[in-house]
Amino acid sequence: MHFFHLLNVGHSAEMMVLLLLICDRTATAEEACPIQTNPTRAIVRYGNPFTANCSLLSDQVEGMGWESNSGGVPLKLGVRFLLLTIPKVKEWKFDPVCFISNTDGEQCQRMLNITVYKPPDSVSISDANPRVPVVEGENYDVKCDVTNVAPVRNLLVSWHKGNKVFSTQTFDDSTVYPVTKSTVISVVADRNDTGTEIWCEAKLVFEPTAPILPSSRSNSVKVQVLYPPTFASPAEEELELSANFNMTLNCTATGNPPPVYSWKFPHEIQQTTEDKHMNQPVVTPSYQLEGTYICTASNSQGKVVKTFKVTEKPRSRPGTTAAILVAVFFLLITIMACVVYRKQRNSSADRP
Ligand SMILES: *[C@@H]1O[C@H](CO)[C@@H](O)[C@H](O)[C@H]1NC(C)=O
Repeated sequence: MHFFHLLNVGHSAEMMVLLLLICDRTATAEEACPIQTNPTRAIVRYGNPFTANCSLLSDQVEGMGWESNSGGVPLKLGVRFLLLTIPKVKEWKFDPVCFISNTDGEQCQRMLNITVYKPPDSVSISDANPRVPVVEGENYDVKCDVTNVAPVRNLLVSWHKGNKVFSTQTFDDSTVYPVTKSTVISVVADRNDTGTEIWCEAKLVFEPTAPILPSSRSNSVKVQVLYPPTFASPAEEELELSANFNMTLNCTATGNPPPVYSWKFPHEIQQTTEDKHMNQPVVTPSYQLEGTYICTASNSQGKVVKTFKVTEKPRSRPGTTAAILVAVFFLLITIMACVVYRKQRNSSADRP
């Protein structure tokens, strides 16, 4: 009658409360089973033993028992607790149930939350479409195979480049028996990755309170990225020659494959004498002369050119200043001599 009234008036909020109360009732009915299990949840390795203890929280109980797909304990009367002992867990879905029957003939039960796991047999990495080395800027695919692992929803695959994790993967798959998972990841070829190793790691991760299982690491693939020669220093340098300066021209460039070098010297004589240095990144010509020196660094991916403008240092002439001083000195002497001479001549002319 009351319920009808609610429906008629259409008080949706009150309706909601009523529904919630019904839900709550059902939940407590299940919770009300007066037994306690230890543990209530567990993580068990496939093939390992498992033990649980079921104990009573009420006196109004006739008997209790265990049931599971790996064995159980038949209903036992007049006990306060009952142990379930499985020497080897050999089921992937393992849900032991402790049940009791009350004095008034009702039964209730509690199911344990057990996760059966198995670490992977192997973890391996491979080039999904082998074409190592790769060209800078292009993508390449790497594949990680994790074999025979359970349960896959707890699997965490992490991808490492050198000592950094660059990606992680989890699987939305509720399969409880062991499966093999292959994951492919696409990586952009970066010159800085040349020589670093890429590998993957698989581990089973459970709730934070669960024990941490050891992880399995794959083999690794070495990254080879092709890129054109690049100078660390500017592509144009200006140098001044001086007496106590040893002219050294540095054309070092990085690149993969390693660059080869060629030099063009401004003077014929150098071109012939420096022949032995032609393929070097750094040269110190034996004839240190002015001019423009040109170096080319090249590999299969490209080439770069560097120029060195070598000039003679303008000479400071220490003689000049002294010469000017001497000239001024002589000029003054001459002027004074003239003045003295003229004075003498005037005074002799004044004499009668
Ligand atoms: C099982 O639980 C009961 C009640 O908590 C306890 O008295 C008993 O010692 C437990 N047995 C084992 C083997 O843990």
